[in-house]
Amino acid sequence: MEYTLVTLLYWAFAALGGLLVLTKILRYGSRPQKFPPDGPITTMKLGGQNLFLLNDPAVIRDLLEKRSNNYSCRPDLYARHFGDNLNIALRDNDEIWRRQRKMYHVRLNVRSADRYLPYQHFDSLQLLNDLVTNPEGWVQHVQRYTASISSTLLYGWRTPRTSTGYVKDLLEAMVLFPDVQAEAQKELDDVIGSGRLPTWDDRANLPYIRGVVEETLRWAPSPLSAAVPHSAKEDDVYNGMVIPKGSMVMINVWTLNHERFANARDFDPMRYNAESTLTENNAISQDSPKRLHFTFGAGRRVCPGFHVAERNLFIAISRILWGFSISRARGVDGEFTVINRDAVTPGMIVRPEDFECEIKPRDSIRETLVKEQWQAAEKDLDSEGNFTPEFIQASFT
Ligand code: HEM
Repeated sequence: MEYTLVTLLYWAFAALGGLLVLTKILRYGSRPQKFPPDGPITTMKLGGQNLFLLNDPAVIRDLLEKRSNNYSCRPDLYARHFGDNLNIALRDNDEIWRRQRKMYHVRLNVRSADRYLPYQHFDSLQLLNDLVTNPEGWVQHVQRYTASISSTLLYGWRTPRTSTGYVKDLLEAMVLFPDVQAEAQKELDDVIGSGRLPTWDDRANLPYIRGVVEETLRWAPSPLSAAVPHSAKEDDVYNGMVIPKGSMVMINVWTLNHERFANARDFDPMRYNAESTLTENNAISQDSPKRLHFTFGAGRRVCPGFHVAERNLFIAISRILWGFSISRARGVDGEFTVINRDAVTPGMIVRPEDFECEIKPRDSIRETLVKEQWQAAEKDLDSEGNFTPEFIQASFT
């Protein structure tokens, strides 16, 4: 009994210590300059659990992609036992997960994602109209946009992951990097003009905007892969390093999204050549060193919703930049409010800290067009705010 208590206490302290170290590594905001990760793999112990943090694209390719048979499991996380173990993101790679994955693939593959575009275009109109009529409520408008799309696509199933944060991150980047905003708007003015809104079909002709979308995914703090670890099915040896069965293997997204790039905290859409952003699948390429970022995870557990996420982001970002100027807000004293671009919320799941900004229509032509388009689109909603059967039929046939 005494032994059990001591053992329990030992593991509790070891796990707590490990968690603190891990939190420190993953929270880039508090990561000292020379703190690990150094080298391609950082190893540590979380209680009795071995943890391997992957910091190098080539290692991700060698382990999560090439040896995906061994690294597509999920560790037996405590969270799994709260529900019925049917959450695909937490489930081990058993037969049920494989069937779930197939089902998600059917719902979320590139063709299905194209079929949801009418909803995304529709919801983005409401977003723009909300921004025209109530710019101060921008955080709620951005949240509503993604939540509404997710629930529509998935017939009531709401994914815990949304791109809400990323539209917010884009707005922050546009305040901090006004030259990027100006360049993006120049491209939109040249290619689209003020007479119509950009659509997903314009993507091929908007290389700078494509760069803005991928840069948003790279630049924003992205803790998701860290929150959803992979695990080793069997003992493995990699470059002489033993990775025991059951070890947690995590993608160190922050390091991967930053350490390969010069001036990594600058928001620079020109990092990517136009060809690499044209191919949508480059965001999840199995040839990991060619990846632009690791925000969607890797291997067989890679995010199956990325086509939908890419569309959500492209449509929202291109339309917001087409219609609005985003600038620093002024406080009551008339001075510009300060934004710390690297400030994040505390804890293991980091998000950027809240910030203030001013969002204004770029001119009255765009403002009028947004209002008109929303008035016309609103007819597709019934009295409860749901899509009419006619709209659903027309969009799906
Ligand atoms: C910008 C938005 C999104 C980001 C950054 C994101 C990121 C991720 C990441 C990092 C993972 C874990 C990958 C890994 O284990 O290596 C994941 C898994 C997953 N995502 Fe996403 N996601 C996004 C949007 C979506 C959307 C819109 C959907 C559905 C409509 C979705 C559905 C899923 C599912 C079902 C899984 C679990 C897959 C599995 O464990 O087999 N995600 N996502």
